[in-house]
Amino acid sequence: MCGIIGYVGQKNSVPFIIDGLKKLEYRGYDSAGISILQENGTLSTVRAVGKVAELEKAALLSSPKGCTGIGHTRWATHGKPSEENSHPHTDCSGEIVVVHNGIIENYLVLRAKLESLGHRFQSETDTEVIAHLIEENLKHIRTGKQEERLLKAVQKTNKDIAGAFAYGVLWARTPGVLIGVKNQSPLVVGLGQNENFLASDVPAFLQHTNKVLFLEEGEIVILRPGKVTVLDKMGQERKAKSIKISWDRQTAQKGGYAHFMLKEIYDQPQAIEDTLRTARADFGKILGLDTAALRGLQNIHIIACGTAYHAGLVGKYYIEQFAGIPVSVDLASEYKYRTVPHKTKTLAIAISQSGETADTIGAVKKAKELGFRTLAICNVLGSSLTRICDSTFFTHCGPEISVASTKAFTSQMTAMYALAISLGLANGNLSKAAFDKLYRELMRLSKAMSETVKMEYTVRHLTRKIYKAERFIFLGRHANFPIALEGALKLKEVSYRSAEGFAAGEIKHGPISIIDKGTPVFMLMPQGSLFEKMLSACQECRARGAFVVAVTTPGGEEQIKQVVDKVILVPSVSEFLQPILNIVPLQFLAYWIAKRLGCDIDQPRNLAKSVTVE
Ligand code: M6R
Repeated sequence: MCGIIGYVGQKNSVPFIIDGLKKLEYRGYDSAGISILQENGTLSTVRAVGKVAELEKAALLSSPKGCTGIGHTRWATHGKPSEENSHPHTDCSGEIVVVHNGIIENYLVLRAKLESLGHRFQSETDTEVIAHLIEENLKHIRTGKQEERLLKAVQKTNKDIAGAFAYGVLWARTPGVLIGVKNQSPLVVGLGQNENFLASDVPAFLQHTNKVLFLEEGEIVILRPGKVTVLDKMGQERKAKSIKISWDRQTAQKGGYAHFMLKEIYDQPQAIEDTLRTARADFGKILGLDTAALRGLQNIHIIACGTAYHAGLVGKYYIEQFAGIPVSVDLASEYKYRTVPHKTKTLAIAISQSGETADTIGAVKKAKELGFRTLAICNVLGSSLTRICDSTFFTHCGPEISVASTKAFTSQMTAMYALAISLGLANGNLSKAAFDKLYRELMRLSKAMSETVKMEYTVRHLTRKIYKAERFIFLGRHANFPIALEGALKLKEVSYRSAEGFAAGEIKHGPISIIDKGTPVFMLMPQGSLFEKMLSACQECRARGAFVVAVTTPGGEEQIKQVVDKVILVPSVSEFLQPILNIVPLQFLAYWIAKRLGCDIDQPRNLAKSVTVE
């Protein structure tokens, strides 16, 4: 977790760094800090507990100024959120400052060793050992220019520390030089005109440049205003090629909406449209499998966390229906530690918005060890997951900033659908005519999504009545069961209300006991083969006093109205695409309940957007 930003250029770095930190707050926001190398050669460090806005106020008071600087927004792992534990951390001399993301696993041993050598520590963090190690290593590198000495000290430090980390370091004796290290935690470089950026993620500098350099694991980057040098893990210079990111700046901003979450709900038609551009591609090529290998696939393992896991659960219905291949869906954190029988011709699909989720990456590594072919369904170009998987199907939904995932979820389900029908065509489970029909329906999804997002007012109005409820229940069957789980997760995340999703057929086996007078129960019940069964569930809940809301499609409203308190109509699409639209009212529901309760919608308490620790 945590967000890193660094700037070297010819302008005052402070506004760049503060602005970059605001864009990175989704990675953590319990404290923040900056260190600026001032013209007089001293480092000015400002740190504050809380969000970047607090840091900004503190920085205004002390007004540091300088063309080289680093900043950090923290999500605590080692040590409570406090000013002492906020980054940047410094060595004993106060001349070296470090910002870090990830975990230094052997920090206790290193700290003890450094303390025995006389180093004094100010914080409880693992990060601080990096600053002291660099200081210690510098003592033993006496020759060469200061810049070369710093690089050597960093290289030696990287050998000393263990774990997954990315960090940035400044030394007061090397003005205009910023060093970055990437080792299994995200770190990217933005290339500007006589200015360069180091950051955990692209939105941090996208306003200033869309030319991006992605670093490989184990690499070190040296940034100067007019030059960027990348050293590979052997210490050799690598001619790294930059990539132009097509995300427009506007997409990374709120675009007039009160919150990113709301904007991203409204982004969904476009996100689906953009994702489907890839769906028109040849999946054999994406998977790197020829027709014979595609036909021969015998098992699919889906691994993911949180919302992406729910997309995986929906994907299982798609793949088994259209491609007839058995699918298991695992939480990545569980997959890693359970016995997975080794079977040949298995494809492991890892779904992740960020591509940086440590649990998912860990599970993919295990799948690779088992000899499975791996496919990432991911939204972030150059992310760690896309680098370790054999191939990637990108969901092109643009940067998702709100911690609560919305547009990534619907894009992931869309991608799973496209993949499933393509696999079905390739392995002969679907005829060409059947594939064409499903494909045409898929191509109309974005338009149906545009209609669906128009329902905000209906949901907003409904929340006036129910937002104070203590507990919410979501019920669905078949591919709408994962939508019930996701509806509950969304509400929990942003409103801190207790919410649970169940398979509708299961409530009578226990969960119905938690339904009380007035408990809001959301029924995902589109017209179709399971509609009647859902009607029975409505009656069972209503009989216990629940306030029942039906999320349904046009056609049977009159019948439903007799057994529910409120009907929400979602445009009708084919049975298997319907879940992708059905989540939208639940996204609005979570948003509006959180808003009425005064919650911090884009940055809910205790959460971070990318969970880069296990
Ligand atoms: O970046 P990823 O898709 O791998 O993230 C996985 C989960 O951490 C993520 O979906 C999380 O559950 C979201 N906050 C849900 O809104």
